Amino acid sequence: MDINAPIGVFDSGVGGLTVVREIIRQLPNENVVYFGDTARVPYGSKSREIIIEYSRQIVHFLKTKKVKAIVIACNTASAYALDTLIPEVDVPIIGVVLPGAKTAAKATVNGKIGVLGTTGTIGSGIYTKILHEYNPAFMVVGKACPLFVPLVEEGMIDDPVTVEMASRYLKPLMAYGVDTIVLGCTHYPLIRSTIRNVVGDNVTLVNPAYETAVSLRTLLQKQGIYRDCGEPTYRFYVSDGAAKFSSFANSILPVELVETRLVPIEEY
Ligand code: DGL
Repeated sequence: MDINAPIGVFDSGVGGLTVVREIIRQLPNENVVYFGDTARVPYGSKSREIIIEYSRQIVHFLKTKKVKAIVIACNTASAYALDTLIPEVDVPIIGVVLPGAKTAAKATVNGKIGVLGTTGTIGSGIYTKILHEYNPAFMVVGKACPLFVPLVEEGMIDDPVTVEMASRYLKPLMAYGVDTIVLGCTHYPLIRSTIRNVVGDNVTLVNPAYETAVSLRTLLQKQGIYRDCGEPTYRFYVSDGAAKFSSFANSILPVELVETRLVPIEEY
């Protein structure tokens, strides 16, 4: 495997950029190819079968870019498609759920953990299952927040509507006394400060992106394919709305102006 080959990263839209941001911080020499399925976002309300089909097409596309590893930077696709795709792909592939659950298990003091996610992720029960493998006594309270993804995709980060929705979603969760909340959708770290304002300072907010980048680096090092020198390149692809995606990416990534290309993803 070529050490200079890029890491493939994908999500339904801009959310996975929170994982790319962390990869840039922690693995600063790695080349990255990102795909955002902006024509078909949101994934969170779709069925397992559809998510597997979409994810498979994206993996086929990323393989044409000769990626050396793939990160599913989407909790919904990690929950529904990761296990199916692992045996189908000849490069290592990781998701964001396991790293997120691991961080939450380490962070909680009172054993009460809240998980925010899409309807699909919460409905799959995957966080509860993994957290109970760490400790069966954990109380895990899931809360689906289906409006967060469209609000983020529309760039309504500090909008009063987003503040209102955060309050409606989070207040019932806080009533359980959780001391740790997993941002179990890669879009949610983009509205972290709004979430923080609702839950206060005494709750640990877990962004699985950090631990995902740690896991990725460990994996690449183990396989002898970690790129630790040289200038990186970043390439971005979407299935719709390239200009809108570029301007969003430019506002959150610490890299030079991002250019985004369109891909007819159904053909893969
Ligand atoms: N950002 C994705 C996730 O982490 C998908 C959100 C969506 O498209 O509904 O679940």
